[in-house]
Amino acid sequence: MRQQEADREVYVCYYCAIVSARVLSNGGILAGNKLMSGYIYRRCTLLCAGILHGRVLWYFTESIRNSATKLLEMNGSEFSDNFDSDFYSSQIYPNRLNPQIHSQFLLRQIIKFCQDKKLSPNSLRVLDYGSGPAPVLAMGFSSIAREIVLAEYEEGHRDYIKKWLSNSPGCHDWSFYVKYIAELEGTPHESELSERAMKEKMAAVVQCDITVDSFISEGYEGPYDIVLSSLCMENACKSIEDYRAAMKKLVSLVNKEGYFLLFAAIRENSEIGFYTVNNKIMYNLPVKRNDVLKSAEESGVLLLVEEDWPAPLWGIHNTEKYTLFVFQKLC
Ligand SMILES: C[S@@+](CC[C@H](N)C(=O)[O-])C[C@H]1O[C@@H](n2cnc3c(N)ncnc32)[C@H](O)[C@@H]1O
Repeated sequence: MRQQEADREVYVCYYCAIVSARVLSNGGILAGNKLMSGYIYRRCTLLCAGILHGRVLWYFTESIRNSATKLLEMNGSEFSDNFDSDFYSSQIYPNRLNPQIHSQFLLRQIIKFCQDKKLSPNSLRVLDYGSGPAPVLAMGFSSIAREIVLAEYEEGHRDYIKKWLSNSPGCHDWSFYVKYIAELEGTPHESELSERAMKEKMAAVVQCDITVDSFISEGYEGPYDIVLSSLCMENACKSIEDYRAAMKKLVSLVNKEGYFLLFAAIRENSEIGFYTVNNKIMYNLPVKRNDVLKSAEESGVLLLVEEDWPAPLWGIHNTEKYTLFVFQKLC
């Protein structure tokens, strides 16, 4: 019941804030242009719209903060523990370019990483740990990968990917990303062929649970040349101690001198972390940049690259930014 109330409040406040801000600023600009012709009047209208915009945003931010406090009081079991594969895929991996989507930023960074490191084609073993229902990020490694393994906690998400791999009717269409990756790699004409090639490289979709000792299906413990984990550890870990332990486990899967790519939601100022998928509130451990760096140091990896991406106000996570950390395993 408390969750439903908190859900409702967060949603009402959040969307009201955005809709009101947009209506006010668009309405103000429209009124300024249509009703008053002079330059000064237009500027005044814009200024008023700006002030109102800020005021309304402030009011709703406060309401959201109150709802967030309620969220704080919820205990772990009251958060939703899974989400709809199809909804998540369309929301986070839309079939069009969208500069507001963190996953597309990450995909571009993955391609850049492979190009900057001049990794040899078809040579490496890659793991995406906590892939969710989407093979897209793993697809970003397909030109340099010899073999890709996808590990995912939820059976429904694993089945969703397997459906695509087996060309089953009604499976999700990821062709937009096949083309996008080919474009980013500078080989747009090869996209037709490469969807098949990408699928062929996806050797397995396996079960994982970072909170237990056997945290990946037997036979898939690595080592891998590259391990990617995107927004998974903050979903799975309930404390920073758990987070540190989880990072050690993931690093143990990486080859000596191999790479560990961690994409994290960084919350320097939030006491709570959550994200929303189709009206469900999912738990996130609030993690600071220093938590990541300290855990990495303890795990024996060296930071090579750090790329920030500021989170949009209407993004799915209540985070300030997302960061891609690229680490290399020392020994
Ligand atoms: C926000 S989704 C991220 C999915 C994908 N990596 C992405 O970036 O779009 C978080 C993922 O963590 C997975 N997860 C939750 N608990 C887990 C656990 N105990 N061990 C491993 N993964 C877990 C979820 O099933 C989900 O796929």
